[in-house]
Amino acid sequence: MNNTFSNELKALCKDVNKALCSIDLLKTNCNSPDEKVIEAENYALSAGGKRIRPILCLAFYKLFGGDNDISEIACCLELMHTFSLIHDDMPEMDNDDFRRGKPSAHKAFGEDIALLAGDGLAILPFEVISKAALSGKISYETSAKLINLLSSSAGNKGMIAGQMLDLYSEDKAVDEAYLVKMSRLKTGKLLEASCLFGAVLADADDEMLKSARIYAENIGLAFQMVDDVLDVIGDEAVLGKPVGSDKHRSKTTFADIYGVEGALSKARELTDCAINAIEKYSESEFLIDLAKYLTERNA
Ligand code: IPE
Ligand code: IPE
Ligand code: MG
Ligand code: MG
Ligand code: MG
Repeated sequence: MNNTFSNELKALCKDVNKALCSIDLLKTNCNSPDEKVIEAENYALSAGGKRIRPILCLAFYKLFGGDNDISEIACCLELMHTFSLIHDDMPEMDNDDFRRGKPSAHKAFGEDIALLAGDGLAILPFEVISKAALSGKISYETSAKLINLLSSSAGNKGMIAGQMLDLYSEDKAVDEAYLVKMSRLKTGKLLEASCLFGAVLADADDEMLKSARIYAENIGLAFQMVDDVLDVIGDEAVLGKPVGSDKHRSKTTFADIYGVEGALSKARELTDCAINAIEKYSESEFLIDLAKYLTERNA
């Protein structure tokens, strides 16, 4: 990782963390029982996450000429993502006890509150986006486009469909086509929405939207390949989540189908395709380096 990229990544991550802390709807001042769920939401959101989705949104916004503060809207992608992680870790799904270096939400708060915290984080983005439109920060048209993107990428034909395919794959031998479809849905769709959020907020034209989509599709698939590899060769202390979870749940992953080295080499090929789609834009260095970092990452 070169120094300029690493500093820029850290700065963006800091901006996102600051914006997450200042979301009014996540503030809680008293210990009343109805606010316990907000405590669980903040617990799951805080510490450890790479914040890749809001960072992709901010980076595409900048690439396509945006220069307002859109950090709160970018956080919506992190809220939706964190919902998916809370539910993904629950006993009915992957049954993982650690996330982002801490006990998973259901371990810290119990399954009932974790379930509600996930629900709360999945709904909150729509309140944040609609409030931004009602207060004149974004237009109604932009807000409709964002709500459509987020609901369609996370919903029944997106991430939820991918998680269904993931559930059905347990204890079954699935092939490469199944894994690709599942990964594009469960992981790729929200990453795609993240890139497109930035593009839509910057009023990108069709050509720009197409570039953002191609970049996203390629890094999205590569992202799950690397995630599968890290489940085999990762270091739990660095990853902040259990290693070997997929094997434990008898899931076929890209590491099984291609082998660890094969999966990494496929991920690098996809990364090259992602880079190809955006390198024609001036100031695309950060997104080029980000694509490379996502393949070389160890967490
Ligand atoms: C993990 O996502 C879940 C997948 C979609 C593969 P991240 O690797 O982005 O997790 P955090 O946000 O950094 O914790
Ligand atoms: C998760 O995939 C995809 C989601 C929609 C959360 P994984 O189950 O592989 O993610 P990790 O490895 O638990 O982070
Ligand atoms: Mg899972
Ligand atoms: Mg999991
Ligand atoms: Mg995984």
